[in-house]
Amino acid sequence: MSERFLWSPLRVGPVTVKNRIVFSAHLTNYADGGRPTEQHAAYYAERARGGAGLIVTEEHSVHPTDWPYEKLIHGFHREVIPGYRRITDAVHEHGTPIFAQINHNGGQASSMYSRLPVWAPSPVADPLFREVPKGVEQAEIDEIVAGYALVAEHCAEGGFDGIELQCSHSSIVRGFLSPATNRRTDAYGGSLANRARLLVDIVAAVRRTIGPSLALGVRLCGDELVDEGTRIDEAVAVARIVEGTGHVDYINTSIGVATASLFMIEASMHIPPGYALFIASAIRKAVDLPVIGVGRFKDPLQAERALAEGHCDLVGIVRGQIADAHFARKARAGHTDDIRLCLSCNQECVGRMGLNRWLGCIENPRTGREAIGVGTPPSDATAGAGAARPRDRPRHVLVVGAGPAGLQAAIAAARNGHTVSVYEQSGHAGGQVRLAASVPNRAEFGDLVRNQLAECRRLGVAITYDTGVWPGLVDELHPDKVIVATGAQPARPWWAPEGADQVVDVRDVLEGRCAPEGDVVVIDEIGFHHATSVAELLADRGCRVEIITPGMVVGQDLGITLDMENWWIRASAKGIVQTVERVAQGMDGRALQLLHHPTGTMETREPDWIVLAVPAEPVDWLYRDLRAAGWDVERAGDCVAPRRAHAAVIEGERAGAGV
Ligand SMILES: Cc1cc2nc3c(=O)[nH]c(=O)nc-3n(C[C@H](O)[C@H](O)[C@H](O)COP(=O)(O)O)c2cc1C
Ligand code: SF4
Repeated sequence: MSERFLWSPLRVGPVTVKNRIVFSAHLTNYADGGRPTEQHAAYYAERARGGAGLIVTEEHSVHPTDWPYEKLIHGFHREVIPGYRRITDAVHEHGTPIFAQINHNGGQASSMYSRLPVWAPSPVADPLFREVPKGVEQAEIDEIVAGYALVAEHCAEGGFDGIELQCSHSSIVRGFLSPATNRRTDAYGGSLANRARLLVDIVAAVRRTIGPSLALGVRLCGDELVDEGTRIDEAVAVARIVEGTGHVDYINTSIGVATASLFMIEASMHIPPGYALFIASAIRKAVDLPVIGVGRFKDPLQAERALAEGHCDLVGIVRGQIADAHFARKARAGHTDDIRLCLSCNQECVGRMGLNRWLGCIENPRTGREAIGVGTPPSDATAGAGAARPRDRPRHVLVVGAGPAGLQAAIAAARNGHTVSVYEQSGHAGGQVRLAASVPNRAEFGDLVRNQLAECRRLGVAITYDTGVWPGLVDELHPDKVIVATGAQPARPWWAPEGADQVVDVRDVLEGRCAPEGDVVVIDEIGFHHATSVAELLADRGCRVEIITPGMVVGQDLGITLDMENWWIRASAKGIVQTVERVAQGMDGRALQLLHHPTGTMETREPDWIVLAVPAEPVDWLYRDLRAAGWDVERAGDCVAPRRAHAAVIEGERAGAGV
């Protein structure tokens, strides 16, 4: 498909965008003390340099009662303006317009940071924050409207080209619009016209403030996916009201509520690409304003199709450009294969937001570190740019292992101009990532390796498969530097006797060394996808599967990547039983002794197979031998300590970039 629509310019009110790719709003946790930082400027500027047609920043709060998370930009303080100016100047250098998203999160917050009551249309507690908000009175509504106008004024002074009102998944405006959270009986409750009154008042106030020279957009939720919530028909009616104000230049869209149904806003790889496009499509049919469609647009062809088929006028690509800042530039140049495709794993972007850490990306160690080096804490803004640093004397770098750590080390070393050869003992690249991607609905995780291999090819990295490395081979190859990335191997826990053949590791199952049948117990001591993935695979093959965990819940960390809710739905559909118990007193013959720790009672299971998802052990003998022999050797990834893929990529990058 020739990409005709993606590259055609479009007028959005007073602003012309050069292409249809929008870097839509998303939190970054880069703010410091409520102010935007250098990191914001570098982060957005890199996406502008990478060809995005339009950038919309993360939300800026309009009122002190709105402080749901620590690192929110407090747009209501005038002190933000110099930071705004730094961001807009940096982005404008690349000829890209930038809008500011402004917001009050309403009842979707707590008083933890503000020490003020949370404001909302009605005293309906949010299911995540569980704090009963104060139903706002007229004077407070007036204050909110004034807050929007004030922040819009700051944004205009700070050089933004437009304002986007977040009225979608986490907003007091959504709270007013939604029958689920608006129980008012006054002029702001009841009929849709009443529930939309705050939105209309804010639109008018902001337009009065910014005048005709800045664009104004409204982001709407098309389906809240909660009981009694807004559905698509009403969202379309709201879009008509928005257009009817005559003040708005575009409509952005979204799905879900950021607390009750967050897992559908930033859907992980289990949800099909383009899953929320029906919203933009329905709204576009009803209004003449340009409409942005958002939600798991992975590659440019898919975005082009959405435009060509008339579902939307612009395409929001958020995680796609978090993963590859140069998504648009590469697509425009026809180098689609060079794009580092987002995995929709949510591990380092969404996952880190929930942990109050700055936004990163599992496969792009530079995301969030554009202003600093990859190996440097973000507070140290004095370090280098983390880009290629070609060395005077190219060296021969030998990388042992073609998993994510080894491949990233190879990429980083080759980027610096070195000659890099990778040796892999198996017949494939990818290590455990390849296995993780082999289970139901997790295939996109394998794009991590696909992306790395493409980069290795471009950089001329030579990869030799089916060749294990031992010190004698290193003597023969005689490299200047060795980077060992030999990964980890399964470990048997204390309670599993060596002779118990029915006790196997997840890897044994995924690599086909065994084929469990009948009753299978999976032990989840890792709390991530390992146990749940193998359980699904075995349930699909007809096994009766129970997962047992010593944690609070099976797959404990699936919550932070927004995978939990959909896992529960799939587990229940597949009849997978989930039990919170821990192995105690080991095995008695074939019987597994379990302690139900909440009650202190002992239980036993005697399954046909026991599959272990338990911590692995590093394979580090080669590193130790080479170091003892005096080689210039370093190690990265699981052979240092077995962790998740992001750690392998970061360490590989550090090791390779340091050569
Ligand atoms: C880490 C993260 C934070 C987000 N924060 C916001 C936000 O502050 N405001 C907003 O309107 N949308 C926010 N979103 C939603 C995105 O704008 C977008 O709708 C969502 O990521 C789906 O697009 P994608 O599949 O291209 O990532 C956020 C998304 C991510 C990944
Ligand atoms: S961490 Fe995963 S979901 Fe987030 S941007 Fe990177 S690849 Fe995409």
